[in-house]
Amino acid sequence: MATIHLPEVDSTNAEAMRRSLAGCAVPLWIRADRQTRGRGRSGRPWQSDHTGNLYASLLLDLGCGPEVAAQLSLVTGVAVIDAIRSLSSGGPSSDAIVCELQLKWPNDILIGSAKAGGILIESTRHRGVLSVVIGIGLNLVGSPSDIGRAVTSLNLHKIHADPQLMLRHVRQHMDRWLGIWQEGAGFGLCRQAWAVRATPVGTELTVNAGVGPVSGRFQGLDDDGALLLQTSTGRQRFSFGDVTLGLA
Ligand code: BTN
Repeated sequence: MATIHLPEVDSTNAEAMRRSLAGCAVPLWIRADRQTRGRGRSGRPWQSDHTGNLYASLLLDLGCGPEVAAQLSLVTGVAVIDAIRSLSSGGPSSDAIVCELQLKWPNDILIGSAKAGGILIESTRHRGVLSVVIGIGLNLVGSPSDIGRAVTSLNLHKIHADPQLMLRHVRQHMDRWLGIWQEGAGFGLCRQAWAVRATPVGTELTVNAGVGPVSGRFQGLDDDGALLLQTSTGRQRFSFGDVTLGLA
């Protein structure tokens, strides 16, 4: 699988999509040292001026529909947690820190309650194929300031890796989990793997899916990977939304 390294780009996701439209061979990884217009979920910017953090995207062509491709959010989260664990095993990071690594639905990488990374999946259909870009941002050496939420970076937890090494581990674990996922046929296994790496069932969460905050206790995922929340008025299901830890 080819990897392209760029010193600077607007966004590795945008670059991957441009290359897809230009007909380049897939799968393709693109990594940049810096992004000038890094994109986060829900149209938010992803601060990308810390050289030393990981900014990378994987471009794939899939035969499934976009609703199945959306499962890649969870699949990628599992692969990223496994990559961080494999990198830190035998290193100076304590087991406690590695245990604190967890996924928050749909795909935030947390250490404790602080965000250490995020995943942005984008897709477009052209020439009868679904082109999917999986963007991964990981705070290896620095995290953004003043964004109104707890953030952290791996080096603060004695997990030291440069972006190239981190990407090598991420690629290895993505290959493995994409092989298990099989364009949705193996999603059941991925869903289970996600659950054991995620915030525990019963955790208090608040979901904002555009109609105001809804608080409750995390009840796991349904068969499609949607979040289930036990609220004071009953169980609610969310297929999209922003999730924060704690009650509103
Ligand atoms: C989030 O908001 O949590 C998702 C952040 C995803 C950031 C990564 S960095 C590499 C890739 N290129 C982008 O522009 N965004 C993703």
